[in-house]
Amino acid sequence: MHTDRGDFLSMFSSKDNLILGLAPMAGCSTPPYRGLVSDLSASFTISELVSARGIVYNPHMEKVSRYLQRDPRERLYAIQLFGHDPADFAAAIKIVLQHPVYGQADWIDINMGCPVKKVCGTGAGAALMLKPDLACAIAAAAVEAAAQFNKYVTVKMRSGWDEEDINAPALARRLENEGVAGITVHARSREQFYGGKARWEVFAAVREQCSLPLCGNGDIKTAEDIRRLQEMVKLDAYQIGRAAMGNPFVFEQIREGMKVEGVVPEASSERWLAAALNHLDGMIALLGEAPACREMRAQFAHYVKGVRNAAKYRDRLMQVEDRRSAVDILFEIAESRG
Ligand SMILES: Cc1cc2nc3c(=O)[nH]c(=O)nc-3n(C[C@H](O)[C@H](O)[C@H](O)COP(=O)(O)O)c2cc1C
Repeated sequence: MHTDRGDFLSMFSSKDNLILGLAPMAGCSTPPYRGLVSDLSASFTISELVSARGIVYNPHMEKVSRYLQRDPRERLYAIQLFGHDPADFAAAIKIVLQHPVYGQADWIDINMGCPVKKVCGTGAGAALMLKPDLACAIAAAAVEAAAQFNKYVTVKMRSGWDEEDINAPALARRLENEGVAGITVHARSREQFYGGKARWEVFAAVREQCSLPLCGNGDIKTAEDIRRLQEMVKLDAYQIGRAAMGNPFVFEQIREGMKVEGVVPEASSERWLAAALNHLDGMIALLGEAPACREMRAQFAHYVKGVRNAAKYRDRLMQVEDRRSAVDILFEIAESRG
């Protein structure tokens, strides 16, 4: 069984001296975007969360998610599942890993961090932090199912349910015994949702309890953040979430910033435009023009952050129905960026 610390990390390129991944984000971590960030030096990517039970009920994987297939540019890619029943995970993992397309995932990630009511209300996502026995049973079932396909299982969790119960260290330790290959901790409690500051101290506490590869997540945006983290604790990898929305260059910028101190220049307008178009065209290829343009509206809103007259451009981008009008506005923005 894959429980060896070295084994899991050996999947990553030995030339990659800073393992930086795109955090799973529903609506944002689409194949075209995951491919784009991979081209721009993200070491690994993870799908948005997908219901294990949803897969069990749709074993042909239709209507499960439009976003599970691997983009050819992705380096290492995981599919993330959520659920509350070990049997669902065992069955869903078998279905996924047997599938000719989705079986190309390099590993399976289990979601123990989603804070939303719809997920937690069923006992899944961050609610599993409240039920460590069930969390372990799910991990054990997942590890056993994935091992049949020679694939690893990792877990992404919160620091705890609330400030009174920061149990990521204890849970990570137990999950190690279940054969999980790596842990990601989003350093916020479920109570914090996505607000407040991530409390990075939790990483050191997890590190003390658990010797698995540890990936840190929460408010990591710059090389300076990584430097501060490195002074606190030795992490094996980092996941970038919201800082990567609309900025596929963040991985490069962090890598560059690790080489030289000071402000890393923004991507040139040419590169910015090429990235936005690549993202848009990838979505069009996947979904068709009109649905892709509608899906891209929320992403465009992130792309224009920090641009002069952003509100004006955002309003216009929020109404795009076709490629031509989106491209016209993006060209205008690129020009005004200078
Ligand atoms: C819009 C959005 C969707 C998200 N979807 C998921 C998800 O599907 N699975 C998951 O594990 N985390 C999800 N997250 C949480 C992120 O992966 C990450 O843990 C969180 O944003 C903290 O990292 P950050 O401070 O770098 O953004 C989502 C976050 C956002 C903002």
